[in-house]
Amino acid sequence: MEKMRLDKYLANGGAGSRTDVKNAVRKGRVTVNGETIRQPERKIMIPGDIVCLDQKPILYETYEYHLLYKPAGCVSATRDEVHKTVLDYVSSDRRSELFPVGRLDKDTEGLLLITNDGELAHRLLSPAHHVDKTYYARIKGHVTEEDIVRFQEGMDIGEEKPTLPARLTILSEGDISEIEVTIQEGKFHQVKRMFQAVGKEVLYLKRLSMGSLTLDPSMKPGDCRRLTEDELRNL
Ligand code: URA
Repeated sequence: MEKMRLDKYLANGGAGSRTDVKNAVRKGRVTVNGETIRQPERKIMIPGDIVCLDQKPILYETYEYHLLYKPAGCVSATRDEVHKTVLDYVSSDRRSELFPVGRLDKDTEGLLLITNDGELAHRLLSPAHHVDKTYYARIKGHVTEEDIVRFQEGMDIGEEKPTLPARLTILSEGDISEIEVTIQEGKFHQVKRMFQAVGKEVLYLKRLSMGSLTLDPSMKPGDCRRLTEDELRNL
C-alpha cells in the first residue's frame, strides 16, 4: 500500500499536467471514493481509493509510455551536461524513472519510445525478437539495385557477424537518392555504416516506425504524446 498526493496520482494517470489536474481538483471535478475533494495535496491510498475525474475512473499506471518525435540535436540519454536530452521533451512527474528504448544518433530524427517499462524495452531491443525498424533517408549518391541485393544478403560492417537481411526500397534515385530501409537490429550507427559499406553517405536519417508503432503524420519534431491504448495493446 502506498500513499500519494491526489494531484500526482491524477497526473501519473494521464489526466493532464500537474497544473491542469490541480485546477480540476480545485474546481470540484475530482472525487475520491465518491466524495468531492478540492485539495490537490490530499493523500490517497494505492491500491484502495477510487479516484474519478468528471465521473471517469483514473487508474494508477505502473508504467508510462511516451512516443517522441525526436528532433535533431538532442541525445538519446537520460542526462547530459552539454546537450538537450530526449527526456527534455517529455512531460511527466516521473521523469527520473524514464529512459529511451534504444538510441537514435544526435543528428537522427524520428520515432523514439520512452518508458519506465524495462521488460517491454528488453523485448523490443533484443536481437532475438527481430523487431522491424523502418527509416527514411537521403543518401549522397545513386542508390542501385545492386545495393538492394547487398542489403538483402547482409553485409560486413566491421562487426563479428554480418548484418541480418535488410529491406531497402528506392523512393527516388539521383545525385541525392531517397530511400526507405527496414532493419531488425540496432547496432551503433547501423544504417550509416551499411551505406558506408556500399560507398555512400547518409545525409539525413529519420525513423518512421518500430514494430507496430509508427510516427503520426500530424506530429512535428519535438512533439511528444502518450501511447494510445490500441498502440500499447499492439506492442
Ligand atoms: N542507424 C544509424 O546509423 N543511426 C541511427 O540513429 C539509427 C540507425
